[in-house]
Amino acid sequence: MAADSVYPISDSMKDAHINREQYEAMYRESIEDPDGFWGRHGKRIDWMRPYTKVKNTSFDRNNLSIRWFEDGTLNASVNCLDRHLADRGDQTAIIFEGDEPDVSRYVSYRELHEKTCRFANALKGLGVKKGDVVTLYMPMIVETAVAMLACARIGAIHSVVFAGFSPEALAARIGNGGSRFVITADEGVRGGRRIPLKSNVDQALEEPAASVVERVVVLGYTGGAMQWHDSRDVDFNGLMEEAEPWCEPEEMNAEDPLFMLYTSGSTGAPKGVLHTTGGYMVYTSITHEYVFDYRPGDVFWCTADVGWITGHSYTLYGPLANGATTLLYEGIPTYPDESRLGRIVDKHQVATLYTAPTGIRALMAGGDHVMDGTSRTSLRLLGTAGEPINPQAWEWFYRVIGNEQAPIVDTWWQTETGGVMIGPLPGAMELKPGSATRPFFGVQPALFDSEGNELEGATGGNLVIKDSWPAQMRTIFGDHERFIKTYFSTYDGVYFTGDGAKRDEDGDYWITGRVDDVLNVSGHRLGTAEVESALVAHDKVAEAAVVGYPHDVKGEGIYVYVTLMKGEEPTDALRDELVQWVRQRIGPIATPDVIQWAPGLPKTRSGKIMRRILRKIASNETDNLGDTSTLADPGVVDELMEYRAFR
Ligand code: WTA
Repeated sequence: MAADSVYPISDSMKDAHINREQYEAMYRESIEDPDGFWGRHGKRIDWMRPYTKVKNTSFDRNNLSIRWFEDGTLNASVNCLDRHLADRGDQTAIIFEGDEPDVSRYVSYRELHEKTCRFANALKGLGVKKGDVVTLYMPMIVETAVAMLACARIGAIHSVVFAGFSPEALAARIGNGGSRFVITADEGVRGGRRIPLKSNVDQALEEPAASVVERVVVLGYTGGAMQWHDSRDVDFNGLMEEAEPWCEPEEMNAEDPLFMLYTSGSTGAPKGVLHTTGGYMVYTSITHEYVFDYRPGDVFWCTADVGWITGHSYTLYGPLANGATTLLYEGIPTYPDESRLGRIVDKHQVATLYTAPTGIRALMAGGDHVMDGTSRTSLRLLGTAGEPINPQAWEWFYRVIGNEQAPIVDTWWQTETGGVMIGPLPGAMELKPGSATRPFFGVQPALFDSEGNELEGATGGNLVIKDSWPAQMRTIFGDHERFIKTYFSTYDGVYFTGDGAKRDEDGDYWITGRVDDVLNVSGHRLGTAEVESALVAHDKVAEAAVVGYPHDVKGEGIYVYVTLMKGEEPTDALRDELVQWVRQRIGPIATPDVIQWAPGLPKTRSGKIMRRILRKIASNETDNLGDTSTLADPGVVDELMEYRAFR
């Protein structure tokens, strides 16, 4: 795959932390001598008891072991807060930018430390102990960061559930984690609209799955009306006032859990990806510094919601571990109008803007003038993550938002990987729009064919990682077998990413997207199986199949084939009802874009749905459907094509 254009290392990055020669040398060392490399770089964070062992890992599925810095102890909140107090206690740790453009708050490291300590004490007072799971269902506000860091301080495992998920989805996550505690707010605000968080929690707690919950801490944020359950609900602000401003941090082993975060897989219910403390802190901190060429004083803005891994690693833990000023934006980039993103950059003199391709495409659709009235001259670096970026969106981001002054780092990684795995270091690599380029230190990507042979040279294949890195997930919460099966059973001895990729003549990687049944809709992962099981739970639906199709803004859209129960009429009203049904069961991110009535679904003789064919019909690539000879009833395909015209 040849690049149409190559951008040389920019002059502004000539004195970057890592130049090309340094990258080559450091990368080589990280692979040849991981103990030496990580033993040295692990010291970038503060340990209570220093580690003597560095890497103890095996990807042999019969003997799987992923342990880093295993005899060291530390506390993540100390690394994000306490250690900065002496030198930069009064520096702003978090810039909060509210949904409304006239609302900003600046929280210093000292203030954030005190708030965190207070809330940590409050949690202790409620009976939260080391190892307990605490669910957060919160807006993008300072108190959310406080609650996460407070959990880390006392060794509780936070499980942040994106506030766009429905009560049912929330209940399932609470139940799976056995979470006795929930932290929420009365309401969230996004794009001028209020989101009834507390009421969603109330509904979630009516589900049997969530019956484990004992206490709900509720932040009075908007002052919106809500119901109150005296025996269960506790007032966040009241707790904060009463709590002591100092809390002794819990001494955590490097391999003690820091947090879990649910993400979608190709089968079954979402899985709780578990991350531990030591390796995660080292890796998010080092990647934040080198991938984004972070400089003291830079304002760093990662637009991801803290409900996703990007928000965990690069809004919170990585930047705070490095003593950065991180920007937390409550709203959406297009409110009150499309210039908001540029206005925020100017207002806070943002140096680094890290965002998702879907947001760029949405702005791009408005035309070049959407940035009018803003200068964005403070930007030194741009970054993207979460989905493949099409070269056109890359060029637009570079030209219109970055004024052709700021290199773009296209970073490939996953909830499971904890931090950036493949991405250009801006002082070391030329940029190619659409390519994530080279692996970070310690990361060994490889391409395998479907038989498990490693492919050499310029080629395409399934992306695997051959050895462990410090921020790798350690297990799926409560289901270690599933962890082994999902990631280590497709191929022997390597971590399977679920993504496809190409490697060009220069050795640069181009991620092509998921090769499994996971959709990537606006940068959000969604299992086709999740949407299907939501649909078949409707009593008029007999069968459903969900596939992705190319979508201009979302990257991938959700295309649903529905077979109705005998005697049910396929009406527009029913179509709308099913769309609402899915939104209620999962959340607005799962809203189907297209529902096509299907008299039958193409199946093999053994009854397996042939998604390959459904994907082609959905993408309008019907000229070449491939081999349909194994279908039990080939006539089904003609019917689907015919119906498609009327969708
Ligand atoms: C996709 C988000 C292409 C990929 C950090 C991966 C990407 C999934 C990129 C993980 C990129 C992420 N280029 N595709 N730069 N970054 N992806 O867990 O399919 O929400 O497997 O983590 O997003 O999504 P997740």
